[in-house]
Amino acid sequence: MFPYRTFVDSTFPDRIPEQCPGSVSLVGAGPGDPELLTLKAYRRIIDADVVLYDRLVSAEILTLIPAGAQRYYVGKACSNHSVAQEDINQSLVDWAQTGKKVVRLKGGDPFIFGRGGEEMETLVANNVNVEVIPGITAASGCAAYAGIPLTHRDHAQSVRFVTGHLKQGGEMDWSCLAQAGQTLVFYMGLGNLQYICTSLMDHGLASHTPVALIAQGTTRHQQVHTGTLTSLPSGFYNGDIGSPSLIVIGDVVALSARLDWFDPEKKGCCGFVNEDVKNVSVSLA
Ligand SMILES: C[S@@+](CC[C@H](N)C(=O)[O-])C[C@H]1O[C@@H](n2cnc3c(N)ncnc32)[C@H](O)[C@@H]1O
Repeated sequence: MFPYRTFVDSTFPDRIPEQCPGSVSLVGAGPGDPELLTLKAYRRIIDADVVLYDRLVSAEILTLIPAGAQRYYVGKACSNHSVAQEDINQSLVDWAQTGKKVVRLKGGDPFIFGRGGEEMETLVANNVNVEVIPGITAASGCAAYAGIPLTHRDHAQSVRFVTGHLKQGGEMDWSCLAQAGQTLVFYMGLGNLQYICTSLMDHGLASHTPVALIAQGTTRHQQVHTGTLTSLPSGFYNGDIGSPSLIVIGDVVALSARLDWFDPEKKGCCGFVNEDVKNVSVSLA
């Protein structure tokens, strides 16, 4: 199951640590639409003994957890952390050491603003068998469902994922962010929308640069609001749009007027496929 580790252990036998009997899979659940779950994630979830899950994991995906598995909500909303990160790290180690197959289920991708790196550091330090199963991160999922290609040969040669959870006072390299020809995606940025847009303009980004605010992306509740660095912040206040939400900035946003394909109201093609994901059977050799 962990071929690389087996290779390392047999190549460097004197370095073989005492492994614990269980394992932890850090699993990305994707941005919301349950059908964006990977097959590998699906297989780990349905085979789990213990699942620790976050706030942004969709209800449909939670229904895949076996009835006999133990499940724990350890989610975090902005200022309300139900369980401290250190306690989550330790409980992953503790469960694995009792021989359980543990799934740590996170929204999006575990290694993108998901603290998966910190959890993995603790697990590796404690010689726990661990693997990472990437998920579709919110930037990819939400942009795709809003008809915004994050890169485009004519408009954006690079894309940057940025935390919008900022301490105001200038820790960001705004000059670097305020460059044309790139797309910026701010996670956790809604409360700082005005500050982000103003800072980019103060550092030279054109005020007419298109901006999209995507809330509850890839779900049947998806909302997409578009404007510019000047018009969008003045049109919205924190309470006006649902959570979670993502800010996309750059010329590619203008393409959504033509490429917008997803209709959250509609079932089936070009809308939300309203199927119970439990009915999907996966059989891999
Ligand atoms: C703590 S970060 C976790 C990101 C996650 N690990 C990922 O790869 O998408 C949470 C932020 O992701 C963004 N986000 C996650 N899911 C989203 C969705 N369905 N629609 C819009 N934004 C989303 C929001 O900016 C939210 O505040």
